[in-house]
Amino acid sequence: MTVKMMTRLVCVLFLALVTNSYAQSNAECLECHSDPELAKEPDSTGKTISLFVDEDLFGESIHGGFECIDCHSDIEDAIHEDDLQKVNCGDCHDDAVEAIAASVHGEFANGQSPDLPGCARCHGTHNILPKDDPNSLVSRMNQPNTCGQCHANPEVIARNNFAIKSAVAMYEKSIHGELALSGSADAATCSDCHGGHNTLYPLDEKSSIYKLNISKTCGQCHESEKDEYLMSVHGTSLLEGAKDSPTCIDCHGEHDVLRPDNPDSRTSGFNVAVDVCSPCHASERMAAKYGLNAARVKTYKDSYHGLASRGGKAAVANCGSCHGVHNILPSSDPRSLINASNLASTCGTCHPNASENFTRGKIHLVEGENETVIMGYVEAFYISMIVVIIGFMIIHNGFDLAAKIRHIRAEKYHAK
Ligand code: HEC
Ligand code: HEC
Ligand code: HEC
Ligand code: HEC
Ligand code: HEC
Ligand code: HEC
Ligand code: HEC
Ligand code: HEC
Ligand code: HEC
Ligand code: HEC
Ligand code: HEC
Repeated sequence: MTVKMMTRLVCVLFLALVTNSYAQSNAECLECHSDPELAKEPDSTGKTISLFVDEDLFGESIHGGFECIDCHSDIEDAIHEDDLQKVNCGDCHDDAVEAIAASVHGEFANGQSPDLPGCARCHGTHNILPKDDPNSLVSRMNQPNTCGQCHANPEVIARNNFAIKSAVAMYEKSIHGELALSGSADAATCSDCHGGHNTLYPLDEKSSIYKLNISKTCGQCHESEKDEYLMSVHGTSLLEGAKDSPTCIDCHGEHDVLRPDNPDSRTSGFNVAVDVCSPCHASERMAAKYGLNAARVKTYKDSYHGLASRGGKAAVANCGSCHGVHNILPSSDPRSLINASNLASTCGTCHPNASENFTRGKIHLVEGENETVIMGYVEAFYISMIVVIIGFMIIHNGFDLAAKIRHIRAEKYHAK
């Protein structure tokens, strides 16, 4: 045994002796508190509070090697007062305390709502586990339940008037929720998008869910989509201040994200035109504000592709097939899929051997605007043909009717 080791041993023994002289060991506390029956006297409301501490659960917890009095630091002898101080986790985790205080869950957010969570509501007390342990209350799989104590509780939701009433229920049905609840370690859970402690309101510029920060938040896991999006007309115009331009959640939703191949998804081929692009590109207000044409959706719906899609044909082109979805650019941009020089290959993905002539036909045929002179003549010809044919039919039928009436009258006359 070296001298160094001996001095260390002496130190430890001495410390143990000193501490024990004025503080109780866990075993001593548990002499009383391992009794499942031990409970506090009923309070004025008649509620009894159990004082039982499960030794095994505590032993397995991350603080299992701690003395009870590390947390219950105001207890000094066996006969303790019943108005003990609340445990202050901040004695050792001051960074967590600071982050919570500055978050939506900080007590300053709206005065001192009794609904706001303290550390124990999200982590437990004697059963705290590391966040990576699947049984931890804040594990990826358990967060929906833990946050759901309040965010899926109708009374708490009504009292606090949350902007989104059913975040948890929607999340559980989403692709992220489905995967996270079945044990995926990669799919987004509440804290990936909101932070565990530094949760902020969506209108706060520092928030992970502030409109301009959302592409970065989703981009933690969807990097290639983020990169494409950031160079698109929507990504660049949003960062330049066009607040109406879409970010990821305008097209995908936030809690109800579904796979594009799910027919219920707003991003599925059949739904893109109406559910994704239409709210903005069929809006007169937005068209006026950004110099767009509000008829793009209508003209698509009336096109052969739109009609075939409404008829149930899945292989047909939707807005995204020609424009892209994350890489949308104006036709004037040479990188744009609808730039004249790229149309042969864009249409060519479905129309092999599409010639330049083929791609020249207008997709968005706007009445009176895009029509060529010839098309105007064709239309005029058809309209006059219709007038003439219907006119002839009316005259013909008129003569026919008159003849019949005359005939009936003649028969009646003869019958008399
Ligand atoms: C001799 C039995 C006994 C021992 C030993 C004992 N306790 Fe207690 N403890 C009690 C009783 C009884 C109460 C309930 C007092 C009351 O009715 O409010 C209590 C209450 C408590 C409370 C709850 C106080 C409150 O107001 O919510 C805590 C925390 C606590 N004990 C921790 C400890 C710790 C830590 C130790 C060891 C350092 C310890 N106790 C040792 C009997 C004991
Ligand atoms: C990691 C810190 C921590 C340690 C270590 C700890 N406790 Fe606690 N304990 C808490 C918290 C938090 C509460 C909830 C009340 C509060 O905030 O003060 C609590 C509450 C209690 C209560 C009141 C009943 C209840 O469950 O709310 C008792 C009794 C108690 N502890 C006993 C013990 C005993 C005995 C030990 C040691 C075996 C121990 N505690 C170790 C954090 C701790
Ligand atoms: C609204 C629920 C919530 C509250 C309140 C909360 N936490 Fe957390 N905490 C979490 C979540 C969720 C995680 C996991 C975050 C992650 O996966 O990055 C976490 C992680 C942690 C971690 C481990 C990771 C780290 O950041 O070091 C510690 C330690 C922690 N919390 C302590 C505390 C303390 C102390 C308090 C009280 C001041 C507290 N927490 C309050 C939800 C909460
Ligand atoms: C006496 C100091 C002390 C107190 C008081 C204390 N902790 Fe800890 N806590 C630690 C230490 C040390 C660790 C283990 C080191 C680590 O892995 O971060 C830890 C670990 C944790 C972890 C797991 C971190 C992870 O990796 O996921 C959580 C969660 C946690 N504590 C929450 C709490 C909460 C909540 C309270 C109050 C009820 C509390 N702690 C009170 C010292 C303390
Ligand atoms: C004990 C109840 C409780 C728990 C648990 C809880 N919250 Fe909250 N949360 C609240 C309350 C109350 C507010 C409203 C604060 C305010 O605006 O005054 C809030 C606000 C929010 C907001 C802003 C809501 C809005 O309408 O602007 C978000 C986002 C949020 N919480 C996310 C979470 C996440 C994520 C978790 C889990 C890691 C969680 N919360 C756990 C009670 C809770
Ligand atoms: C994939 C990312 C993502 C996940 C996962 C997620 N959220 Fe959200 N959440 C958001 C975004 C983005 C918003 C902001 C929507 C907006 O701007 O209106 C939001 C809004 C909220 C709001 C309302 C805030 C407000 O003021 O409008 C609450 C409450 C909330 N989330 C709770 C949760 C809870 C609880 C979970 C876990 C079950 C969760 N969220 C999972 C991205 C996410
Ligand atoms: C923590 C990582 C993470 C974050 C953050 C995240 N996701 Fe995901 N997301 C995933 C994983 C993992 C999948 C499943 C991928 C797979 O199985 O193909 C997924 C799937 C998707 C899908 C379906 C993909 C497909 O190929 O069918 C879409 C759409 C999606 N996420 C959009 C979003 C949006 C929008 C946000 C931000 C609001 C977001 N995600 C945030 C991890 C994340
Ligand atoms: C203008 C609307 C729009 C925006 C903005 C948008 N998406 Fe998409 N996204 C779509 C559509 C539509 C699809 C389906 C494409 C398909 O059918 O393959 C899609 C598909 C996806 C997929 C599935 C894989 C793939 O590429 O087909 C992921 C993951 C995804 N988006 C993530 C994101 C993320 C992350 C953001 C923000 C950085 C984002 N999206 C922004 C409309 C959009
Ligand atoms: C949340 C609203 C919103 C959604 C959803 C949206 N857009 Fe846009 N889009 C805009 C705005 C605003 C602009 C104009 C940006 C600017 O020029 O500042 C724009 C610009 C465009 C442009 C360039 C127009 C031009 O003349 O330069 C194209 C092409 C386009 N969007 C196609 C689409 C398609 C296809 C979809 C559906 C997959 C879609 N957008 C979804 C708001 C939206
Ligand atoms: C079959 C391919 C195709 C489909 C499907 C399609 N477009 Fe287009 N779109 C084009 C072409 C080619 C242009 C450029 C020529 C023009 O202005 O007609 C264009 C032009 C646009 C423009 C103006 C862009 C610019 O820079 O001039 C917008 C905005 C637009 N489309 C939106 C939509 C929306 C929204 C949908 C779905 C409702 C849609 N498109 C469906 C091919 C398509
Ligand atoms: C995603 C695949 C897809 C893309 C991309 C696409 N189309 Fe089509 N298109 C179809 C399908 C499928 C039909 C057949 C619809 C039907 O059954 O009526 C069709 C029909 C047509 C027709 C009607 C005559 C015919 O050949 O049946 C024309 C013209 C046409 N497309 C032009 C275009 C042009 C121009 C582009 C590029 C700007 C384009 N399409 C891009 C799938 C596509």
